[in-house]
Amino acid sequence: MKNLAMIACVSRDGGLGKDNDLLWRFPEDQKFFRETTMGATIVMGSKTFDSIGRALPGRENIVLSREEITADGIKVFHDRADLDAYLELLPGQKFIIGGASLYKMYLPEAEVMYLTEMDAKKPADVFFPEFDHIKYSTTILQTGDTNGVNYRMIKYTRKEV
Ligand SMILES: NC(=O)c1ccc[n+]([C@@H]2O[C@H](COP(=O)([O-])OP(=O)(O)OC[C@H]3O[C@@H](n4cnc5c(N)ncnc54)[C@H](OP(=O)(O)O)[C@@H]3O)[C@@H](O)[C@H]2O)c1
Repeated sequence: MKNLAMIACVSRDGGLGKDNDLLWRFPEDQKFFRETTMGATIVMGSKTFDSIGRALPGRENIVLSREEITADGIKVFHDRADLDAYLELLPGQKFIIGGASLYKMYLPEAEVMYLTEMDAKKPADVFFPEFDHIKYSTTILQTGDTNGVNYRMIKYTRKEV
């Protein structure tokens, strides 16, 4: 899908979260997430919305759920086909921001993936889907370390077929 990206922070084994919470939380990644998604549309599953607890300011917040959810500042879709039809018509940049179920669902659709890759593991119960690295070109956007753990922020761009 045009202008569709995913953004996530993953452990060395692809771990994304545990007990409906993030594994990694540090200022550089939060800043990167904020700056990358600001002004765009962000799309998340209901569990990720629950874990964030509110709409994120300065972005159009979309939540996918089969349930009725009411909260300030969010648009809810109950069905992927309806959501896709809406996203297709949306001119600006769109980001899948999690969780595991949405990353898996949209992996084949996303043109770009921004992954903050942590050089360490933590126990996790949800994982980023495996993907074929050969299908993407890679740009390292930032490197650093947080609490002694190295990280790299990588932009994966799907190669033209
Ligand atoms: N590391 C990161 O960058 C990152 C980012 C985001 C989230 N996370 C982590 O990921 C975990 C959550 O991921 P998750 O996979 O468990 O949950 P999720 O993807 O956030 O949400 C799953 C929910 O989305 C709804 N949904 C999914 N597919 C649907 C469909 N086809 N139609 C309608 N509704 C659909 C359902 O909501 P209902 O049950 O309401 O119907 C489903 O229960 C947490 O641990 C979170 O901290 C990590």
